Amino acid sequence: MAKYEIIGGKTLNGSVTISGAKNAAVAILPAAILVAGKCRIENVPDISDVRILLDILRDMGAEICQPEVGVVEIDSSNVKSTHPNPELVRKMRASYYLMGSLLSRFGQANVALPGGCNFASRPIDQHIKGFIALGADVEETDDYVNLKPGAEGLHGNRVSLDVVSVGATMNIIMASCLLPGQTVIENAAKEPHIVDLANFLNTMGANISGAGTDTVKVRGVEKLQGGTYAIIPDQIEAGTYLAAVAAAGGNVLVQNVIPKHMECITSKLQEMGAKIYNYDDSIRIVSEGRLRGTTVKTRPYPGFPTDMQAQICVCMTLADGISRLTESVYETRFFGYCTELTSMGADILINGKTAIVSGREKLRGNTVRARDLRAGAALVIAGLAAESTTYVENINYIERGYERIVEKLTALGAQIRRVED
Ligand code: EPU
Repeated sequence: MAKYEIIGGKTLNGSVTISGAKNAAVAILPAAILVAGKCRIENVPDISDVRILLDILRDMGAEICQPEVGVVEIDSSNVKSTHPNPELVRKMRASYYLMGSLLSRFGQANVALPGGCNFASRPIDQHIKGFIALGADVEETDDYVNLKPGAEGLHGNRVSLDVVSVGATMNIIMASCLLPGQTVIENAAKEPHIVDLANFLNTMGANISGAGTDTVKVRGVEKLQGGTYAIIPDQIEAGTYLAAVAAAGGNVLVQNVIPKHMECITSKLQEMGAKIYNYDDSIRIVSEGRLRGTTVKTRPYPGFPTDMQAQICVCMTLADGISRLTESVYETRFFGYCTELTSMGADILINGKTAIVSGREKLRGNTVRARDLRAGAALVIAGLAAESTTYVENINYIERGYERIVEKLTALGAQIRRVED
């Protein structure tokens, strides 16, 4: 099994270009099933979750070509199957978007329950609630979700989510796109990738308004036609590089970002003592690697993202004083990495939903294991900031969501390499 070897203690300098957003790409690619014609999708990150999704779509009959780096052309006209390959579906989380897109296009879907990072119990009851409101008959087994039209057929409707869910919001948007009538999603999530999905679908001819607010309206249309769309930059990848510079020290221009999407993260890093300079589509961060403790609570967008919890925790382990980090989306997320950080010398006490982090002068290198994508990214940051050598194992998790991370960090002066056991 491959692992990363990181010789820590080097500052990071230069510039890094952020890839397209993973969590937008993994929704937009299955949404291409809704389109009768060729979609050209640009700024697609080359990560393993995207490769698995493309394999699933190809296996279902979609014609896919990748004419240049970062560009995927999908023609779903010949897709006939409503039963995607379960072995592939179980390899990732976002395969649940096949339920919404197949239901909308074919009126039925038979999709295995998704896999992916299991850092918490991750129910899909709100997705199912939405499909039922849209008139679907839902049969759930331990392994599968089977959707077909109920007695009154599929139609737009009002859906009020009981919890703010990114996945349910996007799945209901997809499911309602081609149904007759209007769908109104209340208590919708507002993440940038929801706006991106709506913009993609609207470019192809859908009628979606309100994405980015807590009420999204979808007026069903008869069909969507092909077109070209570029995915937004990845907020969390950018945040991860910013946190890496904050912790390890250095001066880096993070390019291809939407600074507005980054405010929830940059404001915290500033509070911790890093200097942040915003430009039109880039952010410069300057840090001496010595930070001040702070308080962070994760929340749905525009709050501080749960997907940055682990990375900011590493910054806290090296900050002066005591920091408090409270998780309000996935309570068990701390367990994916705090023990590993403690083995590197961090002082973290978990008290329910809150981690109390007492900053230390240094972290020391060790052999640690990634247990999910963001936990893995945090261990890489810890390795960069630590004294001596760190080995990060289970890097398949990290490569699900970070494009060319070793190359990008090496270009910033980090000493990191991928080694085979
Ligand atoms: N929830 C339910 N029922 C549902 C759906 C969600 O109770 O039907 C709960 C969850 O248990 C959680 C909260 O609602 O407590 C929010 O979950 P959400 O549905 O928003 O998460 P998700 O759509 O499964 C996406 C990202 C995650 C990210 C979360 C929160 C994708 C593919 N995944 O997951 O990203 O943590 O939103 O922002 O978009 C990652 O990129 O590392 C990652 C895990």
